Amino acid sequence: MQDEALFPLLSAMAAVYAAEPREEAGRTARLLVEQGPMHLGDRYPNDAVLAEMAAALDASDHPALAAIRAGLHLMPWGDNPVAAQVGAAGDVYVVCTLMGPDGPIPSDDLRMGLFWQRPGTYYPLHAHDADETYVILAGDAEWTAGDDTRLRGAGEAIHHPSLMPHAFHAGDRGFLALWRWSGDVNTHSYTLLPDPKAAVAA
Ligand SMILES: [Fe+2]
Repeated sequence: MQDEALFPLLSAMAAVYAAEPREEAGRTARLLVEQGPMHLGDRYPNDAVLAEMAAALDASDHPALAAIRAGLHLMPWGDNPVAAQVGAAGDVYVVCTLMGPDGPIPSDDLRMGLFWQRPGTYYPLHAHDADETYVILAGDAEWTAGDDTRLRGAGEAIHHPSLMPHAFHAGDRGFLALWRWSGDVNTHSYTLLPDPKAAVAA
């Protein structure tokens, strides 16, 4: 039986993507509600990270958050599709993947999931072939997308075209975001880039 928190969770995320004016965002929204699985995968065992995340969520009033908070325990936190390339730089965040070639919601040309970056940490410049949109649900970050660096907060959607370098310096509460890939969603092109800010923030 599907957990009673799962459908509201998938529907809340679909509503976020239905508001993004891109064809691939609309397809992602439809897949979430039409192909939603009975289970999303193994649960992430780190209660300390979940507690840290919950504190940030409590400070946000994003409309998707009630359903996401109720379903946080259902998500397969810790499943990072680029774990092999990101190495120690990945210690500052945790990811769950909800859609992609390996599921749990199968798609050959779309990936999506949730991303949590820990308070005050820096995720250095990186890039990949896929087009990407992040939607911040809670917390904030000084966000670099190409030549544009500025503070981004809950409710903001940031689009990275293919190969655009991006980096995030999380605020004091950290931040929770939805991430979505489309186009060429291969993971082998994911690359960490030279970043002078990385040494300062480390
Ligand atoms: Fe990215």
